[in-house]
Amino acid sequence: MFLPIYRQDFTREKKAEEIMDSMEKIQYGGSFLLAPVPVVLVGCAHEELGKNLITIAWTGVDCSDPMMLHISVRPSRYSYRMIRESGCFTVNIPSADILEAVDYCGIVSGSKVDKFEKCGLTAVDGLKVSAPLVKECPINLECEVKDVIELGLHHMFIGTVVEKHVRKRCMSPKGTIDPEKVGFISYVHGEYWSLGSRLERAGFSMGSR
Ligand SMILES: Cc1cc2nc3c(=O)[nH]c(=O)nc-3n(C[C@H](O)[C@H](O)[C@H](O)COP(=O)(O)O)c2cc1C
Repeated sequence: MFLPIYRQDFTREKKAEEIMDSMEKIQYGGSFLLAPVPVVLVGCAHEELGKNLITIAWTGVDCSDPMMLHISVRPSRYSYRMIRESGCFTVNIPSADILEAVDYCGIVSGSKVDKFEKCGLTAVDGLKVSAPLVKECPINLECEVKDVIELGLHHMFIGTVVEKHVRKRCMSPKGTIDPEKVGFISYVHGEYWSLGSRLERAGFSMGSR
């Protein structure tokens, strides 16, 4: 069992300023600091409500085997019921050339407009799930909902990745994904950023391949 550690004893409180000064940092009271994070277009479908897209930044990888990821969605979103009741969703990784559509799908609700039509995006049937894939996104992941954790303002859908698609021209001759050809978008403190340049391969510090 884990016990929470509270650093609220008087000695530490008195020392807080000293510690902050020594690190040349401030105690930040603003929004979430975990950035950059991916920004994705999540596709969903529902027998009564039709198909929809929602822009999601609260997402991430959770397990390699079986492959699992999560998306965190507010219950107030139109997409929420669609994902909850259909038990599936797709994660479509956009490139910078459809940034305006990504932003639009994160501002306007599918209860008011058909976002596929409005953004000129093409819905393609998933191979394994009933949620739509976005053709214009270079990478698509089909997911089955394994669990829903009601965390608070957001509910976390944990999805098992049951199928993956990558645009042919985004593959390198070595059979890996070429990040430059994908054109990844990151979400950083309320703004969209592209990737910078390549630094090194993982494991380089040990000289491993
Ligand atoms: C960059 C960006 C990231 C977002 N990330 C999330 C998120 O992680 N979870 C969420 O519930 N809403 C998020 N939103 C808000 C929804 O995308 C937005 O409310 C959308 O219009 C909901 O669509 P729907 O009502 O059709 O489901 C984000 C919006 C933007 C612009």
